[in-house]
Amino acid sequence: MSSTSLGPRRKPSRKGSMADVPKDLLQEIKRLEDLFTVDTAKLKAISDHFVDELAKGLTKEGGSIPMNPTWCMGFPTGNETGTFLALDMGGTNLRVCEINLPEEKGEFDIIQSKYRMPEELKTGNADELWAYIADCLQQFIEYHHEGERLDKLPLGFTFSYPATQDYIDHGVLQRWTKGFDIDGVEGKDVVPPFEAALTERGVPIKLTALINDTTGTLIASSYTDQEMKIGCIFGTGCNAAYMETCGNIPKLADMKIDPEQEIAINCEWGAFDNEHKILPRTQYDVIIDKDSPRPGQQAFEKMIAGLYLGELFRLVLLDLHEQPHIKIFEGQDVASLKKPYSLDASFLSDIENDPYENLLETGDMFHTKLGIKCLKPELELIRRLAELIGTRSARLSACGVAAICKKKSYKTCHVGADGSVFNKYPHFKARGAQALKEILDWEKGRDGKALGRGNDPVEILPAEDGSGVGAALIAALTLKRVQEGRTMGIRDPEGMLAGTAAAKPSSKQVAPEAKK
Ligand code: BGC
Repeated sequence: MSSTSLGPRRKPSRKGSMADVPKDLLQEIKRLEDLFTVDTAKLKAISDHFVDELAKGLTKEGGSIPMNPTWCMGFPTGNETGTFLALDMGGTNLRVCEINLPEEKGEFDIIQSKYRMPEELKTGNADELWAYIADCLQQFIEYHHEGERLDKLPLGFTFSYPATQDYIDHGVLQRWTKGFDIDGVEGKDVVPPFEAALTERGVPIKLTALINDTTGTLIASSYTDQEMKIGCIFGTGCNAAYMETCGNIPKLADMKIDPEQEIAINCEWGAFDNEHKILPRTQYDVIIDKDSPRPGQQAFEKMIAGLYLGELFRLVLLDLHEQPHIKIFEGQDVASLKKPYSLDASFLSDIENDPYENLLETGDMFHTKLGIKCLKPELELIRRLAELIGTRSARLSACGVAAICKKKSYKTCHVGADGSVFNKYPHFKARGAQALKEILDWEKGRDGKALGRGNDPVEILPAEDGSGVGAALIAALTLKRVQEGRTMGIRDPEGMLAGTAAAKPSSKQVAPEAKK
């Protein structure tokens, strides 16, 4: 992948001098390398097992990967038009967008607002959650459409948690992930209470599609690049979506859908290997799981996603400090290192980004953030540990991508990726690409060219805005299906159009003049 900034190219990991590292720390570094390194053979074994598990998730009996059909049926053509709202309930923020898809193919205009999700909400109760979201939407509409008489605006709601969908405008939360633990939502359809909160406030919105961030990413990316076959999120959580043909989905067989019909599958691959058959879990992964709000769930995600990288790092350092035979942070107050989830993935990013051979910036960070003064050998261990955790995350992530490619027999394709780890974690992309090369045995790139620089057969590329443009496009595709009478997977087709501009004769969904 090309880099936009000039300057010296940096290696995916640093050599560093271990010359002055004492023997006990050297031994520990070696032990950590053994624990966290996933070699090519293991990557291949994980990917092969992953392929089986993807298929199992599509059967009636199911497996641990949910493989949720999303009722998003097919890719956009680029000719979608209309005005849509998109709501993204992310981990830290709530984002509301209004997206206009104009006549020009593949274009879009967007206005958006961000609202902080109060931390208490994440462990509060359902009523507070829906009230807060409806308030934000109301504020957005009042601000941007003051004094206008509006048709109901169709909304794509990006709800990035595992949900079973019998219809696109329906979603039963299977379980909270990413540290959320809001009472009274799991096991229930999230749409009715959400709509009730809107109705109570008289907000003119019609939920058209409930989507996952990965499906949004897939659809938004394919709007501008037809080679996009997979949408991934490598962020606080981790997951992917891809397009499957109904004939390959035994759990939909009773519905007698045309076997060639495509439908996006939200894999929810964070749940891969919940039964602990293949992933090389360490004692630290075990602790993360045990102390999480949902032990036994999201085994894969807990080893690779942003929410957990800093915590893994903290647990290792604390463990080393507590072992009497290892001399690390001796005589220092490590109280701040004892606080769970006090370090996030950006702390590891900053360590890996420290450009100085003597790790001056890393030392400063440990001092200011944790009150720990590190010796040079300790800094060497810290840096190596960050590299190991970041590299394991990228390499394991690649196993999922390779598995979907293998399942679909994609020899070449683009993968649209979004999320803080993908966008900000140093070397994540290069390490992922290297792992794909090892798993898929590439020797040459496309057209016999050398690998890298845009020639890798499967490339993971930064995605278009999935939870904005993707949500709008899926809403547009859904309304188009209703207008054409292709109402499979839509709970109440008439109700979906009622009161929106799409219900008007000769409407191309929402014509601009219809907004006034
Ligand atoms: C959720 C997925 C989501 C992923 C990335 C996971 O924890 O279960 O639905 O796509 O995080 O946001």
